[in-house]
Amino acid sequence: MTLTETAPGASEAELERHFEATIARNDRIEPRDWMPEGYRKTLVRQIAQHAHSEIIGMQPEGNWITRAPSLRRKAILLAKVQDEAGHGLYLYSAAETLGVSRLELTELLLAGRQKYSSIFNYPTLSYADVGTIGWLVDGAAICNQVPLCRTSFGPYGRAMIRVCKEESFHQRQGFELLATMMRGTDEQRAMVQESVDRFWWPALMMFGPPDADSPNTAQSMAWGIKRNTNDELRQKFVDMSVPQAEALGVTLPDPELRWNEERGHHDFGQPDWEEFMEGVKGNGPCNAQRMAHRRRAHEEGAWVRAAATAYAAKQGLDTPRSSLAGHSTTGGTER
Ligand code: 3HC
Repeated sequence: MTLTETAPGASEAELERHFEATIARNDRIEPRDWMPEGYRKTLVRQIAQHAHSEIIGMQPEGNWITRAPSLRRKAILLAKVQDEAGHGLYLYSAAETLGVSRLELTELLLAGRQKYSSIFNYPTLSYADVGTIGWLVDGAAICNQVPLCRTSFGPYGRAMIRVCKEESFHQRQGFELLATMMRGTDEQRAMVQESVDRFWWPALMMFGPPDADSPNTAQSMAWGIKRNTNDELRQKFVDMSVPQAEALGVTLPDPELRWNEERGHHDFGQPDWEEFMEGVKGNGPCNAQRMAHRRRAHEEGAWVRAAATAYAAKQGLDTPRSSLAGHSTTGGTER
């Protein structure tokens, strides 16, 4: 039982103490519980950004569905891109429990007032990129998101459990695709290496700015929203990726990358943080294209939302405004 249920007349100070005690015990905060406004806002910001990333993230890979090299690869890619749409929907649902609708969040994204992950501002130039995105981008997503299964807000943590299971499949399919290409021709091996060279640094940027420049980490850690800092997760990802790169037979494009016996971790170079900031501000290589496509898909889906709303009204069903917003999220066109 929560304090809000047991003590309806509780003062704000009592509610806050109860909230802090729940966080300290590593218990979950649920939507019915009292929470500080800053906690709610931080969650809406992070979950919305995460949801938008999943939906925008369909574009770079969707770009290759019609040009997959075999029926098997096409079926795998279709399933993967469809999974990402599902992840976006679980996450918008988690955000809705905080009192914001999917439509509101979509409109904030389209107005440039919410973000999506920097990684999706890079183009996919060859089929090897499908493998590299699976291996490195979904690999980074797993590193970042497995700890989020233990985040302090119940609906977010529960959504992440299924998301992470599917991301593991995505990561393995990417690795398997690259391993197959590495057993192929010299040209295929060169395609893989070129793709890894382009995606390595953007994958490191996915974890966010260095801790010293991360305005949100300290408070998000104190609230148990984030369980690790950006730099901790980036280090984990590098340590995980190095042996995988060796197994594949590719090199990672970082001359500073080496094992540090004393630390028990790899040392590595820093990504270009100016390039990261430009992407976050909307000036990355594909920002305009991604947003234009997202806007078009939203506008073209208006009739679906209107028809579903009219049908539900006819059937006497309850249709929250949010449940019908944000459909139509097909892949992009990069050719
Ligand atoms: N891309 C774009 N913006 C980023 C970013 C990135 N890679 N990393 C950080 N930022 C933004 C933050 O949103 C914040 O801006 P804001 O205050 O206006 O929102 C600013 O840069 C400062 O960063 P902080 O480190 O202070 O921000 P956070 O504490 O929120 O940490 C995060 C950033 C680590 C990305 C965290 O929000 C997080 O863990 N989010 C959940 C995971 C997520 O969103 N993943 C998207 C990846 S893609 C994906 O999962 C799809 C899969 O299929 C690959």
